[in-house]
Amino acid sequence: MPNEGSYEAALRRSDQIHADLPEHPENYTMLTGDRPTGRLHLGHYFGTLVDRVRLQDMGVRTNVVIADYQVITDRDTTANIQDNVLNMVVDYLACGIDPERTMIFTHSAVPALNQLMLPFLSLVSEAELHRNPTVKAEQEASGHELTGLLLTYPVHQACDILFCKGNIVPVGRDQLPHIEQTRQIARRFNKRYGKVFPEVAGLLTSTPLLPGLDGRKMSKSYGNAISLSMTADETARLIKKSKTDSERMITFDPEGRPEVSALLTTAGICSGRDPREIADEIGNDGAGALKRTVTEAVNGYFEPIRARREELMRDPTYIHDVLAEGNRKANEVANQTLAEVREAMGMVY
Ligand code: TRP
Repeated sequence: MPNEGSYEAALRRSDQIHADLPEHPENYTMLTGDRPTGRLHLGHYFGTLVDRVRLQDMGVRTNVVIADYQVITDRDTTANIQDNVLNMVVDYLACGIDPERTMIFTHSAVPALNQLMLPFLSLVSEAELHRNPTVKAEQEASGHELTGLLLTYPVHQACDILFCKGNIVPVGRDQLPHIEQTRQIARRFNKRYGKVFPEVAGLLTSTPLLPGLDGRKMSKSYGNAISLSMTADETARLIKKSKTDSERMITFDPEGRPEVSALLTTAGICSGRDPREIADEIGNDGAGALKRTVTEAVNGYFEPIRARREELMRDPTYIHDVLAEGNRKANEVANQTLAEVREAMGMVY
């Protein structure tokens, strides 16, 4: 029997859904989200924001959680959280997420969502929690101790996905273990108490990961990420001081020349062109010319998004209202699902 939980099986499910989505968008509910630990950057934009907007515009029911309780999985502070959350809403709206069609909400404002954690925790064993490779990797990367929340946050993600009966979650390959845990939880709940929750599938993204300006993984802590909220000048400065190599001739060679190639990839994705073609054009003009090309491509692409961003920043009341309305809707949905859960469990008194 083929292994249901394998990467191949997940890929097959994802391909089927990709093919079916344009035909039957009404059959799908998407949930995804972000931790409000800083500003969204180009990696988020090309890696997931574009896809969210595409699904929204296609007619899929779309939901986005600003995962404020996840901030404390691997850090001991909620400093700047208010500012990060509001800027995240601004980034979403500037990129084309439409609050009329996409429900935007925060964990902390939706008690019934969080309450699903109790029955869900009873459906997973301690050994399963410890086996999740993504949690292990995150713990090692952050150097934080394995708190109860860090160990169990994939179960909390199951609450995020299942409270709104989400059945697709756009993910990178590293997030598949989380989706697998959600699938298990839904299946076990339905088997034990009767069917409440849908089958969930990860929708694997075809876009390769955009590297940071220095060729390493894009991360705010490496200083190699261009945020959506940066000005054109800040963007130019960051690109200008990024590291290249001593070879004048510009070539696209991600293995041998990660820095130069990351710059070419960035210019390519923003201008919709093949990075090799851009390299050929620059040829012997060197890193200075390459950086000018990248700066123009990035600033050109993000000019309208940044203009919208600035306009939104001038109206903080509107941003608060968007979030309040998203939270109100999320509470309605979560209360309804929790009522079904109580009913299934015989806990209506
Ligand atoms: N873990 C995601 C991130 O770090 C955010 C998130 C929270 C999420 N809950 C989710 C993603 C549920 C997918 C499904 O950005």
